[in-house]
Amino acid sequence: YLNYRVPRTRKEIFETLIKGLQRLEYRGYDSAGVAIDGNNNEDKERYIKLVKKRGKVKALEEELHKQDGMDFKTDFETHFGIAHTRWATHGVPNAVNSHPQRSDKNNEFVVIHNGIITNYKDLRKFLETKGYEFESETDTETIPKLIKYVYDNRESEDMSFSALVERVIQQLEGAFALVFKSIHYPGEAVSTRRGSPLLIGVRSKYQLSTEQVPVLYRTCNIENVKKMCKTRMKRLDSSACLHAFGDKAVEFFFASDASAIIEHTNRVIFLEDDDIAAVADGKLSIHRVKRSAGDDPSRAIQTLQMELQQIMKGNFSAFMQKEIFEQPESIFNTMRGRVNFETNAVLLGGLKDHLKEIRRCRRLIIIGCGTSYHAAVATRQVLEELTELPVMVELASDFLDRNTPVFRDDVCFFISQSGETADTLMALRYCKDHRALTVGITNTVGSSISRDTDCGVHINAGPEIGVASTKAYTSQFISLVMFGLMMSEDRISLQSRRQEIINGLQSLPEMIKEVLLLDEKIHDLALELYKQRSLLVMARGYNYATCLEGALKIKEITYIEDTESSKFAYKAIELPQTVDCLQGVLSVIPLQLLSFHLAVLRGYDVDFPRNLAKSVTVE
Ligand code: F6R
Repeated sequence: YLNYRVPRTRKEIFETLIKGLQRLEYRGYDSAGVAIDGNNNEDKERYIKLVKKRGKVKALEEELHKQDGMDFKTDFETHFGIAHTRWATHGVPNAVNSHPQRSDKNNEFVVIHNGIITNYKDLRKFLETKGYEFESETDTETIPKLIKYVYDNRESEDMSFSALVERVIQQLEGAFALVFKSIHYPGEAVSTRRGSPLLIGVRSKYQLSTEQVPVLYRTCNIENVKKMCKTRMKRLDSSACLHAFGDKAVEFFFASDASAIIEHTNRVIFLEDDDIAAVADGKLSIHRVKRSAGDDPSRAIQTLQMELQQIMKGNFSAFMQKEIFEQPESIFNTMRGRVNFETNAVLLGGLKDHLKEIRRCRRLIIIGCGTSYHAAVATRQVLEELTELPVMVELASDFLDRNTPVFRDDVCFFISQSGETADTLMALRYCKDHRALTVGITNTVGSSISRDTDCGVHINAGPEIGVASTKAYTSQFISLVMFGLMMSEDRISLQSRRQEIINGLQSLPEMIKEVLLLDEKIHDLALELYKQRSLLVMARGYNYATCLEGALKIKEITYIEDTESSKFAYKAIELPQTVDCLQGVLSVIPLQLLSFHLAVLRGYDVDFPRNLAKSVTVE
């Protein structure tokens, strides 16, 4: 977070960082840390204050208040602070392993990182031979040490912060979203990404100089580096930067997820892989090392339709519960403007230009993980029926392990709520390499999967914060059914079936409301069951996926639709009946509710399940 000529007290700066972290806590939460400027602007000597703590963000917040010499009242005209909540991949959760990671004891360079550096062992070995001493077990620590090494060995005194970062990322393998801060470049911010999401929020009361930030290219050979070093950001032609008119008061927010910043601004720029975004003197510029064919020449400022209230819990005790109860609206939003209930036409705008190609394909392959995979299992049968194409459903990790043959006349769907799951993303890259047409079905605008696929559908379920996926499942389900309906529009023989399904879709939001009325009953059932050590979930046919999904959330007994077996059942919960292929949307809801109640009764925090993160962005 960087404010430029927007006076903010340290208290406000902390609050911005801590609140941002709390909104991201659902992604992982074993430790957290923050780096802020140590002194006020007038002070000559600058230093970076680093505070890190094991546990939830709340623990970090308490720790900050305990620190000595914190002046909460003085205004900072320019201030750049970074903060991070960690979900450990390398090294146990503790303060030393949490981020920001630092170059040395003076905190000359500090870095926060989302992702994984796969060649960190080689980098660490190299840096150790140069005398660097490592304090953590993380892959990330190689990055601040490497940038210090580049800085200490720079060819010119004038070398810009972004030029250093450019050098560093050329050495990195793996996935990363990084934000750098340095005492050598006070008030400047540099961030970059490859494979992990990163966006920049822009807030200013003043008109902005541009809505499209042009991308600057540099080729990093020694001569160019020397030239580049002379081009400090402040001297860049202002047409190549984004800044605010007026007194240039502007604030920039770097985040891996829009929910961290949405309360401050809904104006964001999504960075592409290998973009380097630098802010200096209140100006944002974006550059890349190399130009490749087909590169977009600029990055647009987009206005997000997300509101703060959408990511707040409201009257519910947990995000998961709120999201279960949102399903009448979320599936309505998934269908809004796409299904015409008068004419029976179904139009998914993101796919219409590719429809001919899809109709001609050899087969459909639907790929996802966890709940998203279950949405594919749930709709496979109706998709085979409506598209009259063979449909393969694949768990992304298994698909990759098998090196599954993929052909250029295959159409590959990637289902992902977050749009960032590493296995699904790698499967996407694999299918792209095999030249198949790729289709994304995601809930996150600007996510890697939505950007890297040839075309796609946004499921419009609204932000899903609860770690256990609920409303995304039903919206993914409906999106895939809508795809089947769109594909079968011209098939005379399928018209009565289409009519039946479209009628079913129309009444689904009301039927979900009916199912949600069962909440009290399901709570009572949970009261009877919550001490059981195991539960068995059984179903077949259209509800096979429901039982996989129910078992993922809980272990429960259900013979829904089955009047015979309910005679033998310990307890039967009756559900309204809809068309066979949509029944799973209704029957999953009692299981979602049951899992929620069981977890609460067992005394667990449902939004923070142990050993589970919302989006697994590393292998
Ligand atoms: C289960 C759950 C996970 C995700 C899985 C895929 O409740 O949330 O199993 O479904 O990690 O995540 P996305 O859909 O973001 O790719």
